[in-house]
Formats: sequence, structure tokens, C-alpha cells
Amino acid sequence: MWSVGIVGTGSYVPENILTNVDLEKIVDTNDEWIITRTGIKERHIAPKDMPVSELCYQAGLRALEDAQVAPEEIDLVLVATITPDYAFPATACLVADRLGAKNAAAFDLEAGCTGFIYGVATASQFVATGMYKKVLVIGGETLSKILNWEDRSTCILFGDGAGAAVLQRVEEGFGLLSFELGSDGSGGKLLSQPAGGSKLPASLETIEKNLHTVQMEGKEVYKFAVRIMGEVSVNVLEKAGLTKDDIDLLVPHQANMRIVDAAVKRLGISPDKVVINLDKYGNMSAASIPVALDEAVKAGRLAEGDIVVMVGFGTGLTWGACVLKWTKVGIQG
Ligand code: COA
Repeated sequence: MWSVGIVGTGSYVPENILTNVDLEKIVDTNDEWIITRTGIKERHIAPKDMPVSELCYQAGLRALEDAQVAPEEIDLVLVATITPDYAFPATACLVADRLGAKNAAAFDLEAGCTGFIYGVATASQFVATGMYKKVLVIGGETLSKILNWEDRSTCILFGDGAGAAVLQRVEEGFGLLSFELGSDGSGGKLLSQPAGGSKLPASLETIEKNLHTVQMEGKEVYKFAVRIMGEVSVNVLEKAGLTKDDIDLLVPHQANMRIVDAAVKRLGISPDKVVINLDKYGNMSAASIPVALDEAVKAGRLAEGDIVVMVGFGTGLTWGACVLKWTKVGIQG
């Protein structure tokens, strides 16, 4: 098996910003409540005519440029999303087409906010076996399009964006050292979009009842998240033969500052090793981790040989984490 690393990253968020103060005009909420309970100050919202494939395309383009890889060289485009353009065709096919990735297979993967970790773990198998040489993994979401803008307990939390990474073979001992993925479907109802699928097809009644929008039991999700983030981070470090002291950078899913704080406390690492951008973007679901990673890379927070841990949780329920020994130097062939 070859070692597999992330040799390029890119991200994109729509221009339009919705602040907490803007939200005060839409629902019964206030800036202070949102900041105290979540840490979020503002989020980016895609215009009505901008589908998630556009965000994914922009992020993918930037990742390819960063990796200095031509679209024709990509063997697989994998898009992690719960807000695809359509139920079908897959958003990954649309993105591959726009990028000009003519030689790529393409499919979507759905693991909620853990989508990017699931995507990296899945895509890396193709590269590790030598089956594919270069893979583009994108986490992209337009949660704003499936929110109930009258429900203050959910609509304040989410934002739109996309982040991408190019995976390629790297020098032995670098790249992905370990990963762990998990799921528990018994918690599926805690965070869902109940209508629009085969269980509850779209009807006037489902629309009237707002069942095409995000439904969440916030407190239960919170309790699960606080427990799982620390647990899975510890497990994945153990699998890599490392300890918390080896962590140079933690890139957690950006859902709620209190959830991140709890994970950081459990790990016992210094807060300056943690990437935080949820104040600017809110929870961008599958886009949250790759956007945070890209911003950290561009800010020079990762050097060759650094140990980076990415960890997330989401609908499903799902959770996952991975450990990388950082290098952006790919090996051809
Ligand atoms: N503005 C003002 N008040 C609000 C509000 C808002 N946007 N949303 C809820 N409230 C009110 C509630 O009605 C409740 O009022 P009450 O005490 O009079 O009944 C009070 O604030 C407390 O609500 P509660 O739901 O207990 O708050 P909380 O501390 O649990 O925080 C979340 C709510 C949603 C921020 C928190 O539960 C959370 O982050 N959960 C995880 C969600 C998540 O990460 N989802 C994505 C997973 S990928």
C-alpha cells in the first residue's frame, strides 16, 4: 500500500454575509444569545440561483491550482454533501464536468458533517492500492436552502461553503497515518430532513408541515457531539501510535464553540493548536473541516512533518477522525 497525502487544498464561500444582527430581523433571537451559545457571529449564504455544485466547482478549481494538477489528471471526483443539486444525477458528475475532469469517475457520498473525513478515508483507498493516482475530494453544502427560516433553534447555526483537497501518493511515512469512522443509525432522527425521499415523498402536506427543512433535537446532538469528538480523537491517535502531545494542529468540525472547547479539554491540548473559523462561517456541514484546513494551510499553520488531526460528527449519526503527517509533496507514478 502506498502512503497517501493531501497535496493541495482550496475553498470557496459565497460573498453574501448574514450576521447575527441581520438574523434578529428574521427570527426572535439576538446576537448575544447566538455568540454565547454557539460562538457564531456571521455566516455566508449562497444566492437563490447558486447551487452547491457551483461552490464545489470553485473550491475544486482552487485545490487543483494549489496542487498544480490538471483536471484531466484526476481519476476520481468525490463530493461529500447532504445538499446536492438534485437527488440525481450526482453533484460530483456535474462538478467533474465543469472542471473538465474528463477521465474521472465521480460519485457523491453522504455522511453529513463527517462527510469530508469519510471522503478522505474512502478516496485514499483508491490511491493506496495504486488503482488511482489523483483524487479530488470536495465537501460542499448549501444548508441555507433547506433551513426553516422561522425556526430560531436551527436557522442561526448553519452557513454555505465548500472545501476541497487533492489526494496523491506521498513519501512513505507521510500522509494519512490512521483514520476511524463510525455510525449509529438509531440516532438518525435527531438531525434529519424528513421529506423529499422515498419514505416521505414531496407532497403539499409535507411542504405545509415544513418537512423538507432541517429538523434537529439540538440538546441530544450536543450531548452526543461532546462525547464523541474527544473519544474518536483519542482512538485515532492511538491507532497512529501517537499521543495528544504529538498534535501540531487540530481541525475540528465547526458546529459550536462549546463542543470544540469540550473536545479540546478532553484531549488536553493548547487552544492555539486548534483551528477555529465558525465565528465567520457557522456550521457548513461537510464543508466545515476542508474550509478550516485550507485556511490553516494558507495561513502557514502547517509545516512539513507536522501532525494534523481532523475530527467531526454529524447526521446519521456519523463520526470520524483522521491523522496526517503533513506533506504537500506528491510522488508521481
Ligand atoms: N435565540 C434565542 N433564544 C433561543 C434560540 C435563539 N436562536 N434558540 C433557542 N432559544 C431558546 C430556547 O427556546 C430556550 O428557551 P426556554 O429556556 O425559554 O425554553 C433557551 O433558548 C435554551 O434553549 P436550548 O435549546 O436549551 O439551548 P442550548 O444551550 O441547548 O443551545 C444549541 C442550543 C442548538 C445551540 C445547542 O443545543 C447545540 O449546539 N446543539 C448541537 C447542534 C449541532 O451541532 N448541530 C449540527 C450537528 S452537525
